[in-house]
Order: sequence, then structure tokens, then C-alpha cells
Amino acid sequence: MRFITAVDRERLEKKLAMMIAAQVTRKPDSVLGLATGSSPMNVYKRLVELYRQGYVDFSEASSVNLDEYTGLHPSDPQSYSSYMNQHLFQHINIQLERTHIPSSDSACMEAECARYEALIQRLGGIDMQLLGIGRNGHIGFNEPSATFPVATHVVHLDESTIRSNAQYFESAEAMPRQAITVGIGTIMQARKVVLMAFGEQKADILQQAFFGQVTPEVPASILQFHPDVTIVADQAAMQTIV
Ligand code: F6R
Repeated sequence: MRFITAVDRERLEKKLAMMIAAQVTRKPDSVLGLATGSSPMNVYKRLVELYRQGYVDFSEASSVNLDEYTGLHPSDPQSYSSYMNQHLFQHINIQLERTHIPSSDSACMEAECARYEALIQRLGGIDMQLLGIGRNGHIGFNEPSATFPVATHVVHLDESTIRSNAQYFESAEAMPRQAITVGIGTIMQARKVVLMAFGEQKADILQQAFFGQVTPEVPASILQFHPDVTIVADQAAMQTIV
């Protein structure tokens, strides 16, 4: 477990973009596991800059996103599909048919979960998994529970997740209560994991996840067992650690 920290969030976002670019340069056909939310927004912005400056070529890369809300059509502005197009895919030369996001408006969710899991395995697994962390310790949308869910599955979102993410919807009522997420097993199989945490609101959970007990009540804590995990966190998020 490695920590990269700085006072300045911007510096870390740049560093994260460089880490992703280095991964794709080292292995052009990398499978990138991608996250959404507020944490990676500026990382993607920096990555687009690196692409425009000619430092990175995504033409052979693939991507698999962690999760998607249920019941939203990919074209819905709140869907993670729209988020990824808006923040990354439409600005770089990744081939759109090589970008993958769970299709949560499909009629049979169980079949979609199985299809997505098989797809990740068929791609050969994830080379680099980028993660944010929920204030309750979720990674992807694997919410605290009694066990670590292994594969892609449908989840009921926690009240705390609904409260945090309702800001992106017209109202808390408009926010979907369910999502499809890749499982903890799938995340743990990624060859490299990079987790971002910014701001003091992530300080307590960062401490619990990486210095507390490994428990499915804090899903991110399982990463203590991952052989190649880098935590990129600003000083505000690290305040209970350093
Ligand atoms: C998003 C995801 C979530 C977020 C987490 C943190 O695809 O899987 O686990 O990474 O909720 O969200 P932010 O970055 O908005 O604090």
C-alpha cells in the first residue's frame, strides 16, 4: 500500500492523470477501470490535456466503468454514460465501442450483470482500476454489508449515498435507489488499484479503510489485501493519518 499526498489537490489530479497516461503508454491495449463522481472530474480534464498535447494515445485502450444507476437511459444527462462522454470519451481518441458501462435500463438486470462480468473476464481483466471512496467506505457502489459481494450485481443504495449524490439530480426523490456495480472480487482482481480521496469529509473513512479492521462494513478496507494499491489523497483527507 502506497500513499501519495500533497496539500494541493490540483497537483495530485495532475499526477493521477500522468499515472493513467503512463499506464496506457506502457501497455497501449490497457483495460482501464474507470470511476465517476466528483473525485475524477479534474483528473479526466488533465488527461484530456495530456492527450491534446500528444503525450498519450488511447487508440488501442479499452475501458470498463464501475457502475451505473438503474433505470436511466444512457442518453439521460444524469447517467454515468453521459458523464463519461462529457468528461472524457468525446475528447480523446478511445474507440467508443471499446468503452463499457453497465446498461442499467436493460429489461433483465441479472442477465446484464452476468454479461458485464463476462465481458470484463473476456477483456482479460482490469489493468488499472481507478476508484473514489464513498463516505461510508463504498467502492464502486458496493455498500457496507455483511459480506463482500464478489461479482457484478444490483445494489440498493445506502441512505448516505443518496444524500451525497442527490445534488446531481433535481431532487433527492429523482435519484435512483438502485445501481449496477462491479463486485469487490472484480475490483480485487485488477492488477493495479489507484484510489483517490480529496477533502476533509473523506478523512474518517480513509483512516478506517486503511488503518482499521478489514470488514465488509467498510468495503474499501479489503484493499489492504491488494498487492498493488496506491492511495492518492490530499492533506485534508489524510489529516487523521499523518
Ligand atoms: C463512482 C463510484 C463511487 C464514487 C464515490 C465517491 O463511479 O463508483 O464509488 O467513487 O461515491 O464519489 P465522489 O468522488 O463524488 O466523492
